[in-house]
Amino acid sequence: MFKIKGLLNRVYAARLPSIEDLEQILSLQKDEEIEELFAFADKVRKDFCGDGIILRGIIEFSNFCFRECSYCGLNKGNHKLERYRMDKGELFKAIEYLASFNIKTVVLQSGEDERLDVLWLTDVIKGIKSRFDMAVTLSVGERSADDYRLWRQSGADRYLLKIESSDAALYASMHPKMDFGKRLDRLGILRKLGYQIGSGNIIGLPGQTLKTIARDIIFFKRGDFDMIGIGPFIPHQYSRFAGLKEGDARISLKALALTRIVTKDAHIPATTALGNLDKDYRRDGLKCGANVLMLNFTPQPYRRLYEIYPHKEAVNEPADFCNSYIDNIAKDLGRFIDYSKADSLKGTDLRLAQETSLVGG
Ligand code: 5AD
Repeated sequence: MFKIKGLLNRVYAARLPSIEDLEQILSLQKDEEIEELFAFADKVRKDFCGDGIILRGIIEFSNFCFRECSYCGLNKGNHKLERYRMDKGELFKAIEYLASFNIKTVVLQSGEDERLDVLWLTDVIKGIKSRFDMAVTLSVGERSADDYRLWRQSGADRYLLKIESSDAALYASMHPKMDFGKRLDRLGILRKLGYQIGSGNIIGLPGQTLKTIARDIIFFKRGDFDMIGIGPFIPHQYSRFAGLKEGDARISLKALALTRIVTKDAHIPATTALGNLDKDYRRDGLKCGANVLMLNFTPQPYRRLYEIYPHKEAVNEPADFCNSYIDNIAKDLGRFIDYSKADSLKGTDLRLAQETSLVGG
């Protein structure tokens, strides 16, 4: 027992842990060592975030995308995919439904839709803010600083813009015509505007190594992100990465656990992608560092068409099924469902942790 306690404590206590330490933890193979990692991460989650499982509701309002990301089923070259844009009526109906579950964050996500009108989304944000007591998270990709400002001024609270990989060469290899530096600039702008920002990566990308994942975790730490989403790669047949092997659940969970230990109080979801492998690993994610669940409120038939990756049952669950699913999970894990907006824990006195070393002295 406690074979890797020293290593875990060192990474936990470091202002910035070493790549080597992170890599060593990511490469752990023995079940009992991995269990120790997960237990440590679970304790850090409890100390810094408490026992609440925070709920977010996501609505995917357009699957148009002009990007060509090699991993994603929404890539512009996928002509087999029927494209849609929800109108305001449909969107607000979905938001009302979400509100009826007492969920207080709506994540508005779309592909990078060239025809997404800045004023249309501004109106939507204002409408939500005037009608509901709800946090608004945007996830619509790279836009101008003016758009970001307008949306923020209209009441948007948070923005998700994942780095996918913090390795510039790997990033370039799977994002044709995109620019790593520009992505970092967008993040800087979002932060200056006062958004709570979310980053994250994909685990199991071709060319990715444990070292690049370790560097991603350093990137998350340096960036001091409010939210970090980590999910396994799932191949899509109409993408450039068709036919490749899917991301490994164990490595994804190890990366999640380590990200919790290193970043401490970031909001970390058990991602939908984790629920989309050979079994549903979201429960495992919640046991090794995750404190957030995202429920899908995209109405059919659109939900089926928002095919970033091929969906398994978990993604197609109706929201009310999700509700009993999460109640059971919470009960099972001795946790509770947090129905608050659950803003960022960064830089607030909400932090619960005592500055003590974990797992004994
Ligand atoms: N497998 C796993 N995750 C993916 N994403 C996009 N395509 C895939 C895929 N094939 C993730 C990206 C994006 C988020 C919305 O979905 O990380 O940021």
